[in-house]
Amino acid sequence: MRVLGIETSCDETGLAVYDDQAGLLGHALHSQAGLHAEWGGVVPELASRDHVIRLIPLLREVFSSWPGPGKAPHPGPPPGGGRGGPPVDGVAYTAGPGLVGALLTGAAFARSLAWAWGIPAIGVHHMEGHLLAPMLERDAPGFPFLALLVSGGHTLLVHVHDLGRYEILGETRDDAVGEAFDKTAKMLGLGYPGGPAVAALALLGKPGAVEFPRPMTRRPGLEFSFSGLKTAVLRAVERAGDEEQARADIARGFEDAVIDTLAIKCARAIEQTGLGTLVVAGGVGANVRLRERLQRECECSGVRVCYPRQEFCTDNGAMIAYAGLQRLRAGAGDPPVFWARPRWSLDELSMTG
Ligand code: KG4
Ligand code: ZN
Repeated sequence: MRVLGIETSCDETGLAVYDDQAGLLGHALHSQAGLHAEWGGVVPELASRDHVIRLIPLLREVFSSWPGPGKAPHPGPPPGGGRGGPPVDGVAYTAGPGLVGALLTGAAFARSLAWAWGIPAIGVHHMEGHLLAPMLERDAPGFPFLALLVSGGHTLLVHVHDLGRYEILGETRDDAVGEAFDKTAKMLGLGYPGGPAVAALALLGKPGAVEFPRPMTRRPGLEFSFSGLKTAVLRAVERAGDEEQARADIARGFEDAVIDTLAIKCARAIEQTGLGTLVVAGGVGANVRLRERLQRECECSGVRVCYPRQEFCTDNGAMIAYAGLQRLRAGAGDPPVFWARPRWSLDELSMTG
């Protein structure tokens, strides 16, 4: 089975084709970071309009990047050729959570293609895409596992029992961790998106020069809260003024506080569940120091840690193609209407819905 995946939930337009025999056949991505940078964050209306412009050229790009004779990294016939039928067997799109206008562009595009090709379309939960992204790698983890999902909109610890069986163990009460990175970047006068910019500045900071709290780590439980940390950063930025080293020390102190907090909660969740595999996914999972820290700690306690490759930590079409293929193969399917759910909890999923 071969599935086209379409991601348009926020500020990346991502398309990819995944084949259950040959693996990932091609993927293409357009980031809107440049478009939103001058506004200091994502402008939903601009995001939707840009997805509409990008979808068709990206579809062409995915299909033309498809391996031709002699240069094939994967075996398999070219789209539309060889098999005589439609280029794929199904279309998966991100149906939520996300910006509703942005989601609807992908939903309408996916449904139209599926209708034209006479194949099924399926709406996929964006966070299920993130949590299955390590399955795109060669050394994919097996079920069950613990997932730390850290993105711009979510901070979740999930007990992944099986495909479609997700038990949320803890989540944030306020800001998501990626959001905290983005707000810290803004306070430090860095660009959008903030995560990579804060991480780069933190490399120049002195460890321990500025200490921030590790929120909710002293009390039991697996909940998170990052809004207090944001306020502490604001106060430190006001004190630091324009002094370059002081700003780098704040970035370092902030990143250390976030990494410590996430590591403490992961260790607690591993102890609580007895799970032997940790999957880290979502945009913040691209953070190199977070990856190194969790890798080190997990090695010490004999837990296997799995990440998607860096480019599949942030939003992409490959994870949606993969998740959609698993659902279609398990017999799931949507009625022929297009739909999107801007708010949608991961633990409402099952393999039939
Ligand atoms: O998963 P994602 O691409 O989109 C959502 O589903 O939200 O995550 C985007 C978030 C942004 O908040 C961005 O600042 C953060 O991931 N991010 C990072 C890094 N790269 C992206 N945060 C920390 N360090 C990074 N290297
Ligand atoms: Zn995401």
